[in-house]
Amino acid sequence: MPSRPDGLVTTDLDLALERLRSGGLVAIPTETVYGLAADAEQPDAVARIFDVKGRPRDHPLIVHVAGLDHLDGWATDVPESARILGSTCWPGPLTMLLARGPRALDAVTGGRPTVGVRAPAHPMAHELLVRFGGGLAAPSANRFGKVSPTTAAHVLHDLAGLLEPGRDAILDGGPSVVGVESTIVDLMVEPPQVLRAGAIDAAEIGRLLSSPVADPSGPSRASGMLEAHYEPDCLVILTESADAARERVGVATAAGRWADVLDRTDDVVVAAQQLYADLRAADERGLDELVVVLPAPTGIGLAVRDRLTKAAAGGVRRRSSRDD
Ligand code: TXA
Ligand code: MG
Repeated sequence: MPSRPDGLVTTDLDLALERLRSGGLVAIPTETVYGLAADAEQPDAVARIFDVKGRPRDHPLIVHVAGLDHLDGWATDVPESARILGSTCWPGPLTMLLARGPRALDAVTGGRPTVGVRAPAHPMAHELLVRFGGGLAAPSANRFGKVSPTTAAHVLHDLAGLLEPGRDAILDGGPSVVGVESTIVDLMVEPPQVLRAGAIDAAEIGRLLSSPVADPSGPSRASGMLEAHYEPDCLVILTESADAARERVGVATAAGRWADVLDRTDDVVVAAQQLYADLRAADERGLDELVVVLPAPTGIGLAVRDRLTKAAAGGVRRRSSRDD
């Protein structure tokens, strides 16, 4: 049984498996962010994911599998490109959109003809999937539109009142090492398109496929990713330099607002790893404004910039409605 007084957080894989098989929800550690998983073939369990997250029903869920040889029934007509990327990047932070197979429920794909599939690299998630055998539908384990979780404590903070001890669980696998969600590549279009930036960038995918890959190099275009997302309660202000950030904090302070700078431009890998913990910490401190120095737009820096742009979007909206 879970050892913690909250009755949810556990490191017991057997317990997690039992909860999933009996239709419960289990938050799982992955190398990107924590996911809120359910057996993808149990419609009631999948429906609860949307309820607990407060997520619109037509936003599709990624199906997590143990590896390339576990795609049977989830995807059909798996193209050579998927075999190449799966054999080089999986298990890892890459989601591929493929033609959906008969096991992929409408509730999971949002009725789309495609299904997103990913094999996570976190050893606990991987072992869980190998033992589970099927597919786990899992979005990030946060409330819809809010900051993603990279620790079990983040999940507990966000979902404690919504998950049920005795029915659900939060599997604690330590902090996520990548820190931003998987790269999403659509392999159903020619050339393939990167819809969401992640640790594996479009250039790397292009190299692996020995062919060009379309990279929107802007806001993510995966469905459900267009609006403000990853939003903390404080305003997020984006700047391109430490000087500009300091200046902005000065302006905020003079106006009586509590602001601070977040600058992790010295190490973009750490910037990604810590991104969501940093946004959450700003709220815990009660900051009015977090002024962020953006990392360079290369590699995982593109993913960090994408998430920060979305985190800032709600503030832009809130400020312009306040100005109206
Ligand atoms: O790293 C990740 O991908 C994490 C971990 C838990 O695996 N999962 C994750 O899931 O970020 P979620 O639901 O927060 O984001 C998945 C995005 C959503 O914007 C969803 O709309 C899109 O992927 N998506 C999933 N399946 C799709 C499909 N068939 N077509 C288009 N977009 C899809
Ligand atoms: Mg998410």
